[in-house]
Amino acid sequence: MVRHFLDFEGYTAEEILRIIDMAINFKKKGYPDNKPLSGKSVALIFEKPSTRTRVSFQVAIARLGGESVPLSVSEMQVSRGEPLSDTAHALSAYVDAIVARVCKHETLSEMARYSSVPIINALSDRFHPCQGLADMMTIKELKGSIQGVKVAYIGDGNNVCNSLIQACSLLGARISVASPKEYQPPKNVITQAKEWMRMSGSSIELTENPEEAVRDADVVYTDVFVSMGQEEEREKRLKVFYPRYKVTEKLMSLAKPDAIFMHCLPAHREEEVEASVIDGKKSMVWQQAANRLHTEAALLLYLLQDGRKF
Ligand code: CP
Ligand code: NVA
Repeated sequence: MVRHFLDFEGYTAEEILRIIDMAINFKKKGYPDNKPLSGKSVALIFEKPSTRTRVSFQVAIARLGGESVPLSVSEMQVSRGEPLSDTAHALSAYVDAIVARVCKHETLSEMARYSSVPIINALSDRFHPCQGLADMMTIKELKGSIQGVKVAYIGDGNNVCNSLIQACSLLGARISVASPKEYQPPKNVITQAKEWMRMSGSSIELTENPEEAVRDADVVYTDVFVSMGQEEEREKRLKVFYPRYKVTEKLMSLAKPDAIFMHCLPAHREEEVEASVIDGKKSMVWQQAANRLHTEAALLLYLLQDGRKF
């Protein structure tokens, strides 16, 4: 049966760790000479803007010897009303995987239903699992392991937060989320995370208080207050988030002395994060962004070759 990657559900901790280890290996030793994706094509569809995800996927596919087929929604029949599910159905006859960034997560579920090749979530309103993979790789590189590490997420309980919760709960990292009451992560994500945590031995804490969340944290993570597609809510959101949920040097000083700062990017300096934090010594955002290339290469290889050769 074809396996999709819409979120971390359906994957074991062992599988995700294998993908991360493969990515670390690519980074350290370079990409295989035998071009394992030679003869394979991957379609890239973006309903929303992207810099990192688009380029890292395209380069990862090239490094593995495959071919990417970048598609602009405005030039496809989707722009004239053809459902993405029909598009996926047709495309799966030509390509070996479809990477898609969509407005609504349901679009991905529909695509997955009709596609005979893997659908990879390149960000939806609910999840950003490819980001989660690179985040876990970065934590493993910098902290030596993921198990037992404490991650504090400050801000909007959004797509990036949901994937971070899933990844931490699957791989055994403790996570503490500080969000305003009305912007806490969704209940179904929390319920599922708690189930996974019973297996991995990790824990989740939800609070409205950023100072409480960062206590003893090894990692302090934030994302924008206004995600793509929420531009009309900007004023309302800023009133709720700003300045209480901004990651400042003062907030960082309440975490462990060797705590690192992470952000999926793009960032808004002096909105969700102080410029001196994101541009400071504790910030690992460039390593985190760089790791997108390696985790996406590893994910593609895992899904397209069933991890057999690695
Ligand atoms: N973090 C991330 O997904 O960045 P892009 O929106 O630039 O792809
Ligand atoms: N939460 C952000 C993440 C961007 C990578 C958004 O959805 O716009």
